[in-house]
Amino acid sequence: METLEVRLPDCTYNIWLGEGILSLAGDLLLKAGLGRTLALVTNPAVAALYAAPLEASLQAAGFAVRRVTIADGEQYKTLATVDDLYSRFLAAGLERGSAVVALGGGVVGDTAGFAAATYMRGIPFVQVPTTLLAQVDSSVGGKVAVDHARAKNLVGAFHQPRAVIIDTAVLRTLLPQHLRCGLAEIVKHGVLGSPALFEHLERHGAEPMDRVVREALAVKIRVVQQDPEERGVRAILNLGHTTGHAVEAVTSYRVPHGDGVAIGMVAATHMALALGLCAPDVLPRLLALLGRFGLPTSVEADPNAIYEAMFADKKKKEGRLRFILPQAIGSVIISDQVPEEVVRLALARITTQDISKEVPI
Ligand code: NAD
Ligand code: GLY
Repeated sequence: METLEVRLPDCTYNIWLGEGILSLAGDLLLKAGLGRTLALVTNPAVAALYAAPLEASLQAAGFAVRRVTIADGEQYKTLATVDDLYSRFLAAGLERGSAVVALGGGVVGDTAGFAAATYMRGIPFVQVPTTLLAQVDSSVGGKVAVDHARAKNLVGAFHQPRAVIIDTAVLRTLLPQHLRCGLAEIVKHGVLGSPALFEHLERHGAEPMDRVVREALAVKIRVVQQDPEERGVRAILNLGHTTGHAVEAVTSYRVPHGDGVAIGMVAATHMALALGLCAPDVLPRLLALLGRFGLPTSVEADPNAIYEAMFADKKKKEGRLRFILPQAIGSVIISDQVPEEVVRLALARITTQDISKEVPI
């Protein structure tokens, strides 16, 4: 097992990472100094696989654990679910010294984390991420949120976890499309901050998984430590997301998040190339790596609709679209000065309306 540390001005916490460490959770959380009453928030699919061993470990260490399940799916990442969680926390006798343990993917982590951030003005919480995306991205850094009917992650907070327990063995039960979403975020971390990670992925794919997760996490930790509340540099973690979220929205979420991020990174690279900011090897290497992981690099959709949808996203600065632009593998810049024609050119490159109109790269 490895221990990584997240050091922030107001708190420091450990990320424990290893194969099969779910059974050590009880002892690890004793070390984290949590109160004895825990609500274990999960969903039915994850509970069936992993709740029992986690509860056994927590109970053996002396914790009183109450399991609370929420429905599975992004459509349940809402204030209604959070409201239900408050009632169940009350019924379970959760007090300010108690804690919430989130066992699941990003949906469980974001929802349970937001409930923990706001219940009794905030109680401690622990992330036990079970998807690749949650392990390399959403479980670390303290962003917790639920969706609003008109925008994703609109209602949220910064609430850092007290600890993160990452057992990579649980990734074996993930469906391929969920693994792919995590791989997109790992490629993103390589592009924005780690040439070594990117090269490792090119040479060896996502193996060994423990090492890949650790290297991707190292990028996230470094960025979050510099800017915990996204006042500046943390925005680089949104590489591919301005276009990606718009692609998700215009396809009515038939394009999943990871696929949207992959397409968005390609769009951002086209913008950077058009502006003369980007080294020539970035685009072919990115296209090859995304292809290797079965991630898409274009989408059948109307580029005008994607352009309009970008303005609904919260990643704007004073009404201007904001993009993260690759300069080289491992280096990006933040820009809210990309001219409309450059954005539209990039969108033409990543969209196909039908094959006869496809724009050659
Ligand atoms: P998810 O939580 O919906 O999980 C995907 C599916 O995998 C679900 O059906 C889940 O039940 C299932 N699952 C989870 N673990 C499993 C396992 N080990 N084996 C088998 N099935 C398993 O999706 P996700 O991709 O983990 O998270 C997406 C969410 O994360 C979005 O809501 C996104 O906004 C959020 N997010 C948050 C941050 C952040 O910083 N807070 C960052 C990135 C993404
Ligand atoms: N996933 C983006 C962030 O944590 O800032």
